[in-house]
Amino acid sequence: MSSDSLTIIQPDDWHLHLRDGEMMQLVAPMTAKQFGRAIVMPNLRPPITTADQALKYRESILKATFDSEFLPLMTLYLTDNTEVEEIDKAKASSFIKAVKYYPAGATTNSDSGVTRIDNVYPVLERMQDLAIPLLLHGEVTDEHVDVFDREAVFIDRILIPLRQKFPELKMVLEHITTQQGVDYVLSQDKNLGATITPQHLLLNRNAIFKGGINPHHYCLPILKREIHREALVKAATSGDPRFFLGTDSAPHTQINKESACGCAGIFSAHAAIEFYALAFERAGALHQLEAFASFHGADFYGFSRHSKTITIKKEPWTIPSEINIGKAKIIPFMAGEELSWKIS
Ligand code: NCD
Ligand code: ZN
Repeated sequence: MSSDSLTIIQPDDWHLHLRDGEMMQLVAPMTAKQFGRAIVMPNLRPPITTADQALKYRESILKATFDSEFLPLMTLYLTDNTEVEEIDKAKASSFIKAVKYYPAGATTNSDSGVTRIDNVYPVLERMQDLAIPLLLHGEVTDEHVDVFDREAVFIDRILIPLRQKFPELKMVLEHITTQQGVDYVLSQDKNLGATITPQHLLLNRNAIFKGGINPHHYCLPILKREIHREALVKAATSGDPRFFLGTDSAPHTQINKESACGCAGIFSAHAAIEFYALAFERAGALHQLEAFASFHGADFYGFSRHSKTITIKKEPWTIPSEINIGKAKIIPFMAGEELSWKIS
């Protein structure tokens, strides 16, 4: 490895929103260009709650990425009404790899989410038996809890009791954003992993307000203080196998972001691995990027690591200020800024 070129085993994205329709046609090939596999989030409208819907969704993604070897790994959206039999179908399908838990109302398209965790105990029991991982949007929705504390409170109120009740259920605490998230994952020696996004490694909450309110830096869980960003960088670059790459790339149209009630979500698929390279380089830890991006997630989910490699080079380029989708636009992460790394 020279300092201006880095070749790593092909990475995977363990938390991704591909949307559907025209948006998916545009964004799925961007992910397929970089990543071998991705865990695809089910929060469409309507959400993907059944194995049959997941199969159709998977087929449309495969069509949109036909000229690559990209493998979409599907998830089911857990609701209060999810049947235990649906978990059996998911297992039998072999292409559904996890079930996603959104607390109702926690984030974009989460209104069909779970209202009380005990409503889904029978389903979690079956997932534990069948070894299907549970992916957690780890934030409480309690209006009395400060928005910056919702992850930490989720760990205390929901996650700790849940792990005691289902110790053999594999769980991923998705897009962790706090020191408390890191510390909790480190306190658990099995069946728990965590994904970390590029924006939470690169930015702290000042970015939301720099020079005026910036809706393109609004995502959930919301960006936190600098001490939390530092804790995430330390975890991601530590080589600890419990932490792995999950972009949470979540495209919304410009109009839906720049509105009086803008949507949460940051789109990063256009330069995902480059954003992580920048964060790891700033931490002096480029040598740890491969393990975080290409090994830990595959190992956690029980997939073989890829044999193919990708190369990223030190080659400054300017990120487009906008990306067109039909008549609409997406404003990508770091729009108009110069990025020092580029995938070859
Ligand atoms: C995601 C989305 O837009 O679907 N938004 C986000 O801010 N991360 C949903 C989610 O993962 O919370
Ligand atoms: Zn997400």
